[in-house]
Amino acid sequence: MQELGRLEDLPLEYCDALSEQNLVPLWPSLRAVLPPGKPIPRTRATRWSYSAIKPLLLKAGELTPIEKAERRVLVLANPGHGLEKMQASAAIYLGMQLLLPGEWAPAHRHTPNAVRMIVEGEGAYTTVDGEKCPMRRGDLILTPTGLWHEHGHDGDQPVVWLDVLDLPLVYYMEASYHVDGPRQEVRADLGRAAFRQGGGVLPSPLFERSAKRYPMLRYAWSDTRAALESLAAAQPGLEAVQVSYVNPETGEDTQNILGYYALMLRPGQSLPLPARSPAMVFHLIEGAARVAADDAAFTLEEADTCCVPGFSKVVLRNTSADQPAFLFIADESPLHRKLGVYEVRN
Ligand SMILES: [Fe+2]
Repeated sequence: MQELGRLEDLPLEYCDALSEQNLVPLWPSLRAVLPPGKPIPRTRATRWSYSAIKPLLLKAGELTPIEKAERRVLVLANPGHGLEKMQASAAIYLGMQLLLPGEWAPAHRHTPNAVRMIVEGEGAYTTVDGEKCPMRRGDLILTPTGLWHEHGHDGDQPVVWLDVLDLPLVYYMEASYHVDGPRQEVRADLGRAAFRQGGGVLPSPLFERSAKRYPMLRYAWSDTRAALESLAAAQPGLEAVQVSYVNPETGEDTQNILGYYALMLRPGQSLPLPARSPAMVFHLIEGAARVAADDAAFTLEEADTCCVPGFSKVVLRNTSADQPAFLFIADESPLHRKLGVYEVRN
């Protein structure tokens, strides 16, 4: 490959003259912005242990009242991007959020999309667009772009959940902002409940389609887990026992930018994943697993989370010989597909 000229090869006065005109020579940086063959990711394979996060999060509960935090979150920051950037990958933000009994995180809406993966505790709920969504371990709750949401807690133990947002991308686009609002009125009949309970039918105006962009906001873990177990039982030869969280009305990804999946590893199973362009996040809901990604390898205990950069060769392994393992996965696939940069390399 041709060696290109360096910045220090240029006369200082020439560089100063360029800067004065807001000009930059491309060739010293060309290989960095267009590296050969594949990207050079800033995202580093990183693991966050829940047993390390939990005491620090509970301490935050003592140090900072909810009124002073609005959202009491410890951000899972990737050192490859710099901790101050508060991002797990180029497009993914991860945060572990604590709500104590009786606390209230007030209503707001914002341009980034969010989901919650509930990690621990009972009795909390998120009200999204007027629908009160109970929060239980493994449930996935959407708070899509522009929808009002707030969190409350009627239980007696701390509740913790993992927030996944496309904040880094929306912020980079200079499109990130929020609006505060009054407490939402919970509406009993939204059609969403009817949709879930009614075998796929949806109340709609006469011969019109529903105007709801997001007909389903809560994906109960009990349903998702049962779907994975049924799939595994029905197809004993199936290697990848995976389901995608989709918009049930369109069959498309639940949100525009990030994709969400649940995966079951059979006891003792090793599952190599194809190397793909999007970065991925793995969160262990149940069981014990090992994630190997190129030169990095992590053991995941329940509620641990890790991320791997795009184009990584990943092998997942269930380290239990007699129990299944269940993983929640988030990735940047919808974004990559929409932009036309999605790639799979075997
Ligand atoms: Fe929010």
